[in-house]
Amino acid sequence: MTQIATQPIDGQKPGTSGLRKKTRVFMQPGYLENFVQAIFDGIGGARGKTFVVGGDGRYFNAEAIQVILRMAAANGAAHVIVGRDGLLSTPAASHLIRLNKTDGGIILSASHNPGGPDEDFGIKFNTPNGGPAPEGITDAIFARTKTIDAYHITETQDVDLGTIGTQAIGDMKITIVDPVTDYEALMASIFDFDAIREMIAGGFRIRFDAMHAITGPYAHAILEGTLGAPAGTVVNGTPSPTFGGGHPDPNPVWAKDLMDVMMGDDAPDFGAASDGDGDRNMIVGRGAYVSPSDSLAVLAANAQHIPAYKGGLAGVARSMPTSGAADRVAEKLGLGIYETPTGWKFFGNLLDAGRVTICGEESAGTGSDHVREKDGLWAVLFWLNLLAARKMSVAEVMADHWATYGRNYYTRLDYEAVPTEPAMALIDDVRARLATLPGQTFAGLTVTKADEFSYDDPVDGSVSHNQGLRIWYEGGARAVLRTSGTGTEGATIRCYLEAFSDTVLDDMHQLDAVRAATMDLAAFQQHIGRTAPDVTT
Ligand code: G1P
Ligand code: ZN
Repeated sequence: MTQIATQPIDGQKPGTSGLRKKTRVFMQPGYLENFVQAIFDGIGGARGKTFVVGGDGRYFNAEAIQVILRMAAANGAAHVIVGRDGLLSTPAASHLIRLNKTDGGIILSASHNPGGPDEDFGIKFNTPNGGPAPEGITDAIFARTKTIDAYHITETQDVDLGTIGTQAIGDMKITIVDPVTDYEALMASIFDFDAIREMIAGGFRIRFDAMHAITGPYAHAILEGTLGAPAGTVVNGTPSPTFGGGHPDPNPVWAKDLMDVMMGDDAPDFGAASDGDGDRNMIVGRGAYVSPSDSLAVLAANAQHIPAYKGGLAGVARSMPTSGAADRVAEKLGLGIYETPTGWKFFGNLLDAGRVTICGEESAGTGSDHVREKDGLWAVLFWLNLLAARKMSVAEVMADHWATYGRNYYTRLDYEAVPTEPAMALIDDVRARLATLPGQTFAGLTVTKADEFSYDDPVDGSVSHNQGLRIWYEGGARAVLRTSGTGTEGATIRCYLEAFSDTVLDDMHQLDAVRAATMDLAAFQQHIGRTAPDVTT
């Protein structure tokens, strides 16, 4: 049946990660329905098509999936593949979209944002290559949200999401699949599971914190099941609709429990965590935290130890705010290196075109051409595989890496829920002064260059402007300023700081000067009244 769309959605353009809102916004009558209809209309209809649907299990996940299934049926879809209990990690969904040669998928998640009736929910469409929809498609979906007048939905009983097998709504087939099986087979085809199993059998201890989110079932099956790690290796491994009331973002702030264990006396050899939907990762050795930018560089430098990448990498890509550590590896190994705007979708074209094999972001996302999303467990298995091959500790791998390539010190400061106006004033003020900055000195450090990043996609020729303000200082330090595209309250300002040294390899104070200079240059306190960031990673 067709429903009149009485509740026009509020015309916010879906960002790089789809549409993210407070859960209660999605729960308003007709809101989710209107956006789902806009997706189907925006991709040229659902008739005869096959989709993958799943989410990270957060509050409203299962209810939303029931609506999507009824709407897919009413819109004439032929087949929908759903993870059991509505669960699919984002990388596993990407894999299923590709494996089954589908017409795309709908992923329900707000990634690392908390879940619950008063927290966040999100929905995004991924294309048949398994990656987030490119701008052309999100624009079409957005345009449709502004004109939508009706949506189609079938009235029927709820689908039984808990039982593997085939069901139907009218003529539309529904297949419920185990969320882990195909993903695990993919991982087994990439990594040397025997080597990892042997290392674990030899007493190598792991702690994997699933943060009450989607990777619990995957980590239980792969680490404790297939690879033989003892029970208890995976902690917080049962997905909860509110992520146990936590903030499922794998960084030293939100995964503090794991950090405390790894810095403690009886630390295991290897610690890792993943986020709400399983695409991010945190890597930490005994007493040794690995920054995501460094992790990307280490993966690129050690790819020859991994069966799937033995033949060499086509190239490496990193988002612009990510540190230049990967560039140093690429240069030494003679690999192509690409600098893209923030957000995974920009990697898709490079991966599809075979220009890069590995890519990553400073926000704890790394991945490869095996899917078209970043992949948390993949990064964890990559690290385990390289440690098994090199027979070194995480700290030894890092020390060796910095000795070879030098060290890009790095930190990110987040100012969250800033009222939009002063936040924009801060950014606009720096933007207006960009041309005059070179030669000026702030807190003792002189600016050498400043610009606003725009990206010319080498594959499709598209240009993305306004992707962040960049300021370089004498000595090679760099600051980047941009506003978040994923925050759901006011504005979030991100300030990324980097300083390089090839002689001083263990002193985070290397960042003090660039930090002081940037606080002064951008007048943080004057504009937004904050003396310190909310989160430092
Ligand atoms: C953030 C991260 C970015 C990542 C995105 C989706 O976006 O910074 O690297 O791709 O989440 O996980 P932002 O809020 O900065 O726009
Ligand atoms: Zn995520």
